[in-house]
Amino acid sequence: MDIAKHLAAHPVVVAPMAGVTDKAYRQILASFSKGLLYTEMVSDKGLQYRNDRTLEMLKVDKEEGNVVLQLFGSDPKAMGEAARLACSRSRAVVLDLNMGCPVEKVVRKNGGAALMRDKETARKVLRALVENADRPVTVKMRSGWDFDSINAPEIARIAEEEGAAAVAVHGRTRSQMYRGTTDHGVIREVVRAVGIPVIGNGDIQSPEDARRMIENTGVEAVMVGRALWGDPWLLGRIDAYLRGSKPPPPPALEARLALIKRHAQLLSKEKGENVAVREMRAHVPRYFKGQPGSAPYKRHMNRIETLAELDELLKAYQRGNPPGS
Ligand SMILES: Cc1cc2nc3c(=O)[nH]c(=O)nc-3n(C[C@H](O)[C@H](O)[C@H](O)COP(=O)(O)O)c2cc1C
Repeated sequence: MDIAKHLAAHPVVVAPMAGVTDKAYRQILASFSKGLLYTEMVSDKGLQYRNDRTLEMLKVDKEEGNVVLQLFGSDPKAMGEAARLACSRSRAVVLDLNMGCPVEKVVRKNGGAALMRDKETARKVLRALVENADRPVTVKMRSGWDFDSINAPEIARIAEEEGAAAVAVHGRTRSQMYRGTTDHGVIREVVRAVGIPVIGNGDIQSPEDARRMIENTGVEAVMVGRALWGDPWLLGRIDAYLRGSKPPPPPALEARLALIKRHAQLLSKEKGENVAVREMRAHVPRYFKGQPGSAPYKRHMNRIETLAELDELLKAYQRGNPPGS
């Protein structure tokens, strides 16, 4: 894949989100967009030890669209092997290196955002990925480790030198986690620092936010995360706005409820009914966000045990018949 061309044609990208952008949700998102769509992060060590659940994460179906498989780790040898295994078993079109994850469990082992503090290891890991991959490699990073070490432009240059095809930048430091706001200035600096495409990420919740990110920074594309959770229709709204075409109408209630049902069915096919229903407890309140009168239904989700009960709950909402009434 020629990433620059692809981003120019499809400038809205789905962010990697562990627990959200799994196979089921990717299939839903792909029905709204031809843009790149990142997987949840996949552990290099999990692949090295052939952990069943990690290997399962390599499987990408045609219905999932243009998938970017994200790897995390800090051991160049394990990452090289992970890249080879991923390329032999996955139909993802791009591999990505996670240099942005802030969680303690990952940075303690020098992975995720911790790689931004260790430029030499970052370079070696990236080199191992590029050498062992038969498809483009990208990097997703934060603005830096903390406010005293903002170095995304330098890390992006290293990525370019090592052969990365694009970089995505979330304009927050690791120490900010998800607090504060996205710094468009750093993202602009990255755009100035490299010749490869830059994808801007952080706090895009509306088509106007996407336009602002592009105008303020000069990025080729925008990456959207949290705002897409429960609102995959946003992909179409942003895309239409950036193209200057008429936005699609908001989904009718029937379409919203049908999509929730489809999401549950896809999850159930992948993970079984029990896990699917438990995971839907996190997704359904997102789909219902801002929907009038939805609070009792959202609360009731925690008591739902089967897909049939979920179906009943959705029908009750449609009839305006709150649970327990
Ligand atoms: C639930 C959740 C899981 C995430 N998992 C990952 C991940 O696996 N890899 C990664 O690089 N970033 C991950 N992120 C960060 C997002 O990709 C994105 O950078 C961040 O949410 C900022 O974008 P947003 O404001 O559009 O959500 C995650 C974020 C959330 C909220």
